[in-house]
Amino acid sequence: MKLFVTGGGGFLGLAIVRQLCARGHEVATFSRGKHPALDQLGVTHFQGDLSEYTVLKRAMAGCEGVFHVAAKMGMWGKYEDFYGTNVTGTENVLQACRELGIRNLVFTSSPSVVYDGKDSEGQNESLPYPKKYDAWYPQTKAIAEKRVMAANDASLKTVSLRPHLIWGPEDCQLLPRLFEKAKAGKLRILGNSLNRVDCIYIDNAVKAHLQAFNQLLLDPAPVEGKTYFISQGAPIPIAELINRLLATGEIPPVTKRLPPGIAQLAGRFLETTYRIFGISTEPPITLFLAQQLSTAHWYDISAARRDFGYEVEVSLEEGMERLRAWVLRNYV
Ligand SMILES: NC(=O)c1ccc[n+]([C@@H]2O[C@H](COP(=O)([O-])OP(=O)(O)OC[C@H]3O[C@@H](n4cnc5c(N)ncnc54)[C@H](OP(=O)(O)O)[C@@H]3O)[C@@H](O)[C@H]2O)c1
Repeated sequence: MKLFVTGGGGFLGLAIVRQLCARGHEVATFSRGKHPALDQLGVTHFQGDLSEYTVLKRAMAGCEGVFHVAAKMGMWGKYEDFYGTNVTGTENVLQACRELGIRNLVFTSSPSVVYDGKDSEGQNESLPYPKKYDAWYPQTKAIAEKRVMAANDASLKTVSLRPHLIWGPEDCQLLPRLFEKAKAGKLRILGNSLNRVDCIYIDNAVKAHLQAFNQLLLDPAPVEGKTYFISQGAPIPIAELINRLLATGEIPPVTKRLPPGIAQLAGRFLETTYRIFGISTEPPITLFLAQQLSTAHWYDISAARRDFGYEVEVSLEEGMERLRAWVLRNYV
């Protein structure tokens, strides 16, 4: 098949592209920048912004299925920028699917769309969206997810996946920032550090995307118009996860602690101050980040298992070994 991957040069997008190419598919990718790794794979890369409909539609022409992975991530930035990429961009992808007769779409969402700042343990997809959000990223991803689910009909089949905290080799976002902050002594464990969170090894996240897509092709009924949590299926205390990731780079564990209440207050205060003074750089902590670090958030993945056969292929231990080998080759 000829398949289209938005954000194909990013962490998850590139890993999906690699698997699609390995399975013999023709792949076209779309994002604003150039990504040399895509050239090496022989895919056709279109440079453009998701908010520019005409450019996007031209790039999607001739494709038979879409993995819409691209997003503006992060804790800080302007609402218009998050909205432009995450909401308008998703609406554009859906509209182009309709106009070009593309029938199948997998959307990469995030569990943060249902995160209300409090503990959430073992809930399934019936968990409602919160009434308010403390950051633009989850808010705009939630709008996009709703658009994707609402777009499902007889001519366009859609499914949405919510991977939690993706990690693994070739992560050029989370891992470098974690290493940098730890080396600078800026990381803190919030609270008793026993709060458990979900995470997912990159290959498992890719596998879920491909399985969900195959399900749409073969028998969409169980998955169409639905959204699914995907993870390692084994929540882990957040401090343990952070310290295991740091260990892959031979960085000592974080031991300094900060009470969650202080961290949340600091996040609120810094956000307000940065806004008032028009400071565009990201504050060292935001309310949303402080909440994410100090609360439990893990979810039931039995629907993904039941509806499209998702199973964890790479365990946490195996994933950490693979990550360690990659970090040693690339960082240390
Ligand atoms: N990483 C995680 O832990 C995590 C957790 C939950 C959900 N997710 C979701 O997973 C997806 C992929 O995340 P990731 O970690 O792979 O992120 P990533 O490495 O930052 O990749 C995102 C890609 O999107 C492209 N992009 C961003 N804005 C764009 C725009 N306006 N127009 C076109 N392309 C644009 C970027 O490429 P250019 O810069 O070249 O445009 C980038 O390569 C996202 O939808 C995210 O919400 C990720």
